[in-house]
Amino acid sequence: MLGIESSCDETSAAVVSSRGDEATLDSLVILSQDVHAVFGGVVPEIASRAHLASVAPVVKRALADAACALDGIDAIGVTNGPGLVGALLVGVSFAKALAASLDVPVIGVNHLEGHLFATVLEDRAAAPPFTALLVSGGHTMLLDVPGWGEYRLLGATRDDAAGEAFDKTAKLMGLPYPGGRHSVTRAASGDPSRFRFSRPMLNAGQRPGDADYYDVSFSGLKTAVLHAVRDAEKHGTLDGDRAHIARAFQDALIETLAAKTVRAAAAHGRARIVLGGGVACNAALTGAVRALATRELGAEAAVFAPTVRLATDNAAMIARAALFHLGRGERSGPSLNAFSSMPLA
Ligand code: KG4
Ligand code: ZN
Repeated sequence: MLGIESSCDETSAAVVSSRGDEATLDSLVILSQDVHAVFGGVVPEIASRAHLASVAPVVKRALADAACALDGIDAIGVTNGPGLVGALLVGVSFAKALAASLDVPVIGVNHLEGHLFATVLEDRAAAPPFTALLVSGGHTMLLDVPGWGEYRLLGATRDDAAGEAFDKTAKLMGLPYPGGRHSVTRAASGDPSRFRFSRPMLNAGQRPGDADYYDVSFSGLKTAVLHAVRDAEKHGTLDGDRAHIARAFQDALIETLAAKTVRAAAAHGRARIVLGGGVACNAALTGAVRALATRELGAEAAVFAPTVRLATDNAAMIARAALFHLGRGERSGPSLNAFSSMPLA
């Protein structure tokens, strides 16, 4: 299975092969578009043009790395939403054309479902049933997953996605774009007792069925960071306080996500929790979910998270999800289109 991903600012291709239940990652190429850094955010038109320039060489390289000739491709899986439509269209058009020329099926994959399939490529035990926490730059969702292809949305963010909150607060703190990982590095040396921000939408009185039981919200936390930064600027202490503010932000965000995730696993009787998306490679987040899951669910609780390469946007997870759909006899055909929004559940 050749996988292609072009939903945002990464052009990626991967080859995944399967034998029975076992899927092996044969190659993965990820080309990140640095060009957006000078604009402080992804510029859609530039992203589309950059995908256009790199999709063919990236696919070629992935095939070469896997020692797979063109006639060794049995099917092509491609992200067709959600994402930037112009960017998605490059991958979708390329995949459809290549599939037609090779006379193999093309399978459209939901990018969010792809993130759920990332970890199982590294650890076979990361398979349903599980509770899923999907935390990326564009999405924050809590799902119950009784089986592959069955996704029940339990809760979501009411405003910013977790990764977006990392990036925006990093910008407020004056850190360079893309800010998430700079903020995480600062937080590591921050003193957790210097600042404390309230845990958004988290209180002991919440009950299953309450509208906010599984939902999260990060806009208030963002405002708390803004006030802390302004205050520090006023007193000329921002350089010294930056790490402490980053730490307080990360602690509040992580405690909220961990609590809601373990809450969902307990309510649905799931011993396994799978994290996915760019924020899922945050070691403090996985550590917190693991500790709380062990405490609340018992020693048999297992928490799975992808390594950095498979956590952020990549084509390996898309190829893996496409394999699942191919196995069920699903095909997309020449009318496959790209969609900016595409609900998973
Ligand atoms: O999944 P992803 O690559 O793209 C989307 O589909 O959105 O996620 C990117 C997001 C960015 O917001 C980035 O700041 C965040 O993941 N991110 C992190 C870390 N590494 C990347 N957030 C927190 N901790 C990290 N270690
Ligand atoms: Zn993503």
